[in-house]
Amino acid sequence: MENDKKCSNCVEQKIKQEIAEIMKPYTNDKENLIQILNEVQVKYGYIPKTAQLEIANYLNMPLAEVYGVITFYSRFTLVPKGKYNVSICLGTACFVKGSKDILERAKTKLGIEEGQTTADGKFSLDTTRCVGACGLAPVFTVNNEVYGKATVKKIDEVLDMYSKE
Ligand code: FES
Repeated sequence: MENDKKCSNCVEQKIKQEIAEIMKPYTNDKENLIQILNEVQVKYGYIPKTAQLEIANYLNMPLAEVYGVITFYSRFTLVPKGKYNVSICLGTACFVKGSKDILERAKTKLGIEEGQTTADGKFSLDTTRCVGACGLAPVFTVNNEVYGKATVKKIDEVLDMYSKE
C-alpha cells in the first residue's frame, strides 16, 4: 500500500482521506454543502467524482443533488482547471465598467468558453461575482493575482505574458 504504483486505488483512497479531513470540522448538515465544495474546489481545482460521492454520503444527500449544486455555480468545476485560471469579475461594479468585453476578449484569445480549459491544460476561464476589489473595477484574476482597472488591451497583455511561461 505504500507504493502508489502498486496500488491502483491509492489515488482514490488518498482523495477519500483528504475529503474526510476537509469535512471533519463540519457537521453532516446539508447547509454545509457549499462550504465543503468550496474547500474541495480550492484544494483540487475541481470537484473529483470520488469527492462528490463522499460528500453526498456524509450529508445524506442524493449524488444528483450534489451534482446539481456543482453545475449550478460557475465557481465549481467538474474538470481540472488549467495551470492558470483566468476569472473575469461580472459583479455590478465591474460589469458596468465593461468586464463583459474583457470576458469576450479572453474567450476569443483562448479559444474556449466560460467553464472550459484549453486543450494543453494551460488556461481555464470562468467568471465571478465580485472579488472585493470594486474600487479597481473592472477586475480579473489569474489564480490569486488580481488585475484592476482592466481593459481589453490589458487582458491581451496578461494572457500573452502567461502564455510565454
Ligand atoms: S464587482 Fe468586481 S470586484 Fe466587486
